[in-house]
Amino acid sequence: MDPARPETLAREKTPDGEVALRRRGDVLELVVDGTFAMDTVDTSTEVLLATEALHRHPAPAHVLVGGLGLGFTARAVLDDPRVRHLDVVELAAPLVAWARDGLVPELAGLEDGRCRLHVADVAQVLRGAAGPAGPWDVVLLDVDNGPGFLVHSRNAGLYAAAGLAAAREVLAPGGLLVVWSSHRAPDLLADLRAVAEPTDAVAEVALPVHREGRDLDYALYLLRRSGMVGG
Ligand SMILES: C[S@@+](CC[C@H](N)C(=O)[O-])C[C@H]1O[C@@H](n2cnc3c(N)ncnc32)[C@H](O)[C@@H]1O
Repeated sequence: MDPARPETLAREKTPDGEVALRRRGDVLELVVDGTFAMDTVDTSTEVLLATEALHRHPAPAHVLVGGLGLGFTARAVLDDPRVRHLDVVELAAPLVAWARDGLVPELAGLEDGRCRLHVADVAQVLRGAAGPAGPWDVVLLDVDNGPGFLVHSRNAGLYAAAGLAAAREVLAPGGLLVVWSSHRAPDLLADLRAVAEPTDAVAEVALPVHREGRDLDYALYLLRRSGMVGG
């Protein structure tokens, strides 16, 4: 295959726009509603979203991932044997179907006794209006390229105070909410601080990335809900 020419492996219309999987040489790309969502050139920060959260929690038995994408965050969660159950919530039904069919090796074999894929809007799940129910020890959100580069404009509500407060509510005591971003997001940090209770902890973790000749500042945004784990 000519590595410069992408081959479309699958594409399907959804109520939220078309979702497509493309292969360019060895690289797999996900395009959502005409917007580049991610590729496999460098998935280190998708993995770090999981590992940075999990190593900060003493007993992350129940985990929620918002945004299946190409499954790198979900797989990194499942690599931790302390995780007993993972709910992955994905808006694009075709992507979940392709994962279940094993269309590409990157997405194949995710669902098993410990992991369920759900088709839903994670904002609705966090409000208790759809999909699986919490509480979760760890909630990981990666549904856009960050709050400043949205895949779907309606996701803006997730990063605003009401959306973040809903995410905090579904955390078990001592639980962690972590949001991935492809850029520093001072407004998100401020909104997390605004919804946090005085005994919660909020932090920004910088993730420097070198991609295609450029130095980029990716970041994770964390809120730890106060309380005794397991209490
Ligand atoms: C950047 S990708 C996630 C990448 C993922 N962390 C990985 O490791 O492959 C974003 C995903 O979130 C999904 N998405 C976008 N908005 C969503 C929403 N409101 N609820 C659930 N999933 C959503 C997109 O369809 C896409 O699959």
